[in-house]
Amino acid sequence: MSSKGSIKKIRVNLKHAPYTIYIGKDIFKKIPSYLNKLKLGNFGIVITSPKIYSLYRKAIQSNFGSKNFKIIKVADGEIAKSQNWLFKVIDGIIRSDDYKCRPFIVCLGGGTIGDLGGFVAAIYKRGIPYIQVPTTLLAQIDSSIGGKTAIDLPAAKNILGAFYQPKAVFIDPAFLSTLPLAQFKEGLAEVIKYGVIKDAVFFRFLKANHRKIFMSDSSCILKILSTCTKIKAKIVEEDERETKSLRTILNFGHTFAHALESSLKYRKISHGQAVSLGMIYAGKLSLLRRKCSKKALVELIDTLKLFSLPISITFDLAKTYKSLIHDKKFISGKIRMVLLRKIGKVEVSEDIRPHDLKRTFKLLKPSLH
Ligand code: GLY
Repeated sequence: MSSKGSIKKIRVNLKHAPYTIYIGKDIFKKIPSYLNKLKLGNFGIVITSPKIYSLYRKAIQSNFGSKNFKIIKVADGEIAKSQNWLFKVIDGIIRSDDYKCRPFIVCLGGGTIGDLGGFVAAIYKRGIPYIQVPTTLLAQIDSSIGGKTAIDLPAAKNILGAFYQPKAVFIDPAFLSTLPLAQFKEGLAEVIKYGVIKDAVFFRFLKANHRKIFMSDSSCILKILSTCTKIKAKIVEEDERETKSLRTILNFGHTFAHALESSLKYRKISHGQAVSLGMIYAGKLSLLRRKCSKKALVELIDTLKLFSLPISITFDLAKTYKSLIHDKKFISGKIRMVLLRKIGKVEVSEDIRPHDLKRTFKLLKPSLH
């Protein structure tokens, strides 16, 4: 990683598609000059949402208000990752695309906009360039990096997608100042996850600085952004297409989280809350399988508590189990899960049996330890 002035640069060294993640306060305003250097095309399609547009109208107009850009606003929230919005965006591009046009996409928003815009970029004319400008903590530390793009269909989430890398990622912590607390906490669950899977020192930094983090202390936020993006960049470099079980570790806590979210029909619980409970579930399963110590599990639970993330829930066991075994990771009676070894280290296990899954369900009730 290099740091020029107040801009941190992290390289994602992929052989076929290397790119840089730029992190810095107010870097958003500098995007036009980066675009001049990147030479992605002569017509930028900015995909954003009404909420982001109304909060940052002046800055967006100043960057992208000229005739060389078209701003397309899609619905706020997961609904934007739909067939309907996919074709609305593509129609919008086609209407401006003539023989002189070399379009590129700017994804300006949270994870849903990044996933949708990245997918449009992957399939329009068999691929056009795009950049990610994530505005939520979750998108800044995770989904904007690594080229996973997708939309949902009624059959399943993220079922239609592609690995397609952006040409650059611009992370401006200034966007976090307007992020609602619930969404900030949603990102924090994933931030803690990075510490658990790869970096015990970072995990303990989070614990020690939880008050400052809640107060959005700028040096803590920059440390979070640069540490998480560095970890993600490294994992993506080594296992871009998730074929080596390395990228899979990013799913720590997500198997149970997805089952819980799906059994609750994506209402009543946020993704961050589900990930918090999912990490505890994975930790309890790890303890049951004698993979980690009780001390490590207690440290994980205590840290989630420090960040006011949920550590227990009353849930429908049968429904959640059904969702879990419908998960794509369930292969011939066994499920693949990421287990905790110690804080800073996890492993992928391919042979988790239904019996252990059910036993762990019963351990995830109120009164955890
Ligand atoms: N968000 C998980 C991944 O990018 O692989």
